[in-house]
Amino acid sequence: MPNSSNHKVLLQAARGEKTTHIPLWLMRQAGRYLPEYREYRSRHDTLTMFKTPTIASEITLQPLRRFPLDGAIIYADILLIPDAMGIPLSFIEKEGPRFAHPVRTAADLKILEQNAANLDSVINQLSYVGETVSRVKSHLNPDVTLIGFAGAPFTVASYLIEGRGPSKNDFFETKKLIFNQPQLFHTLMECLTEVTMAYLDMQIAAGIEIVQLFESWSGALAPTHYREFCLPYMQKIIKHAQKKVPAICFMGQGAGLISDVLALKPNVFGVDWRQDLGKVANQFHGSKIALQGNLDPLLLYSNQDVLQKNLDACLEQGTAHPHGYIFNLGHGCTPETPIESVKFVVDRVKSFKRTTA
Ligand code: CP3
Repeated sequence: MPNSSNHKVLLQAARGEKTTHIPLWLMRQAGRYLPEYREYRSRHDTLTMFKTPTIASEITLQPLRRFPLDGAIIYADILLIPDAMGIPLSFIEKEGPRFAHPVRTAADLKILEQNAANLDSVINQLSYVGETVSRVKSHLNPDVTLIGFAGAPFTVASYLIEGRGPSKNDFFETKKLIFNQPQLFHTLMECLTEVTMAYLDMQIAAGIEIVQLFESWSGALAPTHYREFCLPYMQKIIKHAQKKVPAICFMGQGAGLISDVLALKPNVFGVDWRQDLGKVANQFHGSKIALQGNLDPLLLYSNQDVLQKNLDACLEQGTAHPHGYIFNLGHGCTPETPIESVKFVVDRVKSFKRTTA
């Protein structure tokens, strides 16, 4: 038993098995809502923190010292892949991620293509993530599951094409490129897919037990375009990762893609807060896919009665799914989240008992 991961509740739920309690972790469980995180941030910039394994492993472990979470997610970012492929990334205060130059032409793409052809060198550049994984692993309580991740290629591509996070002019450059230069977009997706698969392999070799793919912007495209331009790449990555570990597919604003997620067959579907979890559970009934989610992260700013009512409803809906349920928020914890609310949620999830049969 001690050497196997069979007893870890998060992995049991991901396999569709019954668990002694509802396993939980929170997207962005490490971050600015924790004073101990802000203390590090006051001394280092974000990119340095991601790239320094002693710091990144400490940040990964911080939320686990406060709360009995069932998963630890490696402190890293989905945009570190393009950074390692020759498009320098920075994080601008109060603005977010920014690339040194956007990728919009065949000439811009060249550097990414050359790097994708030299996989070992790109993965070597990202070896600090592997080192963070090993460090976290050696400090982790044996009941806690170590979660790795990558961005889905469309979400990463959209940041690269826009050069930053999407603004009011939502995904204008991304869609222009998809519709006017489809071949160029496909080449970009191919490059990101190859590197993402190798990157996940590296994380798994270092000790990762389950991976999550973040498709935060799946709702940015009409479903027909998502199917044509993005889904085959997602499928390839999920199948590849599943040869070694279970895969969670998180779809932000993905309500239009339910039948596609069923066809993708991830081990776990990460449901965003905009969806009705009960309805999703009905649609996934009979599938071999577990569910994860999906409390609106902003409910953690409400009073305890409102939070409890909504949390209990979420847990009733999630546990109604017969093939595994993992509690999570329906998107990341925000920087001002009250710590007492996180504590309340964690305790309530851990002690939850279904009222209905
Ligand atoms: O969930 C975790 O705790 C693990 C670490 C993690 C981070 N980013 C750390 C981070 C994960 C899984 C991500 C994924 C990520 N990064 C996504 C997909 C998930 C989502 O939120 O939709 C996206 C789109 C990004 C890109 C990104 N990185 C943005 C938009 C930002 C700025 C956001 C902000 O709050 O300012 C980042 C920076 C970032 N990544 C921070 C953290 C903790 C904030 C850094 C800081 O200022 O301290």
